[in-house]
Amino acid sequence: MSRPKVTVVGAGATGATCAEVLAQRDYAEIVLTDIKEGLPQGKALDINQMGPILGFEATVTGTNDYADTAGSDVVVITAGLPRQPGMSRDDLVQTNEKIVKSVTEQIVASSPDAILIILSNPLDAMCHVAKAASGLPKERVFGQAGILDTARYRTFIAWETKASVKDVQALVLGGHGDQMVPVISSTTVGGVPLRKLVSAERIQAMVERTAVGGGEIVKLLGTSAWYAPGAACAQMVDSILLDEKRVLPCTAYLEGEYGIDGLYMGVPVKLGRSGIEEIYEVDLDDEEQAALAKSADAVRDVVGVLAA
Ligand code: 2OP
Repeated sequence: MSRPKVTVVGAGATGATCAEVLAQRDYAEIVLTDIKEGLPQGKALDINQMGPILGFEATVTGTNDYADTAGSDVVVITAGLPRQPGMSRDDLVQTNEKIVKSVTEQIVASSPDAILIILSNPLDAMCHVAKAASGLPKERVFGQAGILDTARYRTFIAWETKASVKDVQALVLGGHGDQMVPVISSTTVGGVPLRKLVSAERIQAMVERTAVGGGEIVKLLGTSAWYAPGAACAQMVDSILLDEKRVLPCTAYLEGEYGIDGLYMGVPVKLGRSGIEEIYEVDLDDEEQAALAKSADAVRDVVGVLAA
């Protein structure tokens, strides 16, 4: 049986981490591509050589040629410049717009049936760019942000409550910016509402730390995070290609859901073999609803900066 084909565009730290995590899952053929000569080839070779140690087949190809990506089932687009210290995700908008547009056009020309997962920042706006450049339906063009943001929030809650991170159920909605909305009302630890376990003040501190979670890492490292973002993309690829029907927060094109129209925002969706198979609307309290509207305004502002 042939393996499904996944292309990861951008062999920087995030793209390579995504390829590495997927390679360890051992069910897909993976193509890692980048414009920089040697970079995807070298990283692919290194990942393949983990296989004998960790027990997976060597199926990763590194390339600078889009011809090698032809016939991909899923394409993860991480291409673009990462953030530098002091830069917001939105500062990157015009540079990365050109990159994401060009990558998307080339990808769709060789893989017309692919599902596209966008990771380039500013994420919500880059989803708009990829949708327009690809001409694909909204079910097949969406972004990774919510899994990462929710993972950060869950980590902080696990530390605060000293409970297993596996039992922290949480959801972060909205744009992938400082206005993102961790939904406190539906956060539980093993089914116990967070508000029963942690003071309002401590919850607020975790919410705020989550919203600037990417920036915290940029300050420490001088560039963007890659381990958790790469793993988050791989989880989306799994749910699609293995038709797992996971319900995960992803950046989806909204047409009226949550009272938001014509905008990419992070919401819970069901991911299966056809891409986004359902968008779920959760009940929000008044404060969360207002925060989501504010987040939508912030995304609209960035989308307004796009050239196209
Ligand atoms: C982050 O939040 C890279 O935007 C990404 O770390």
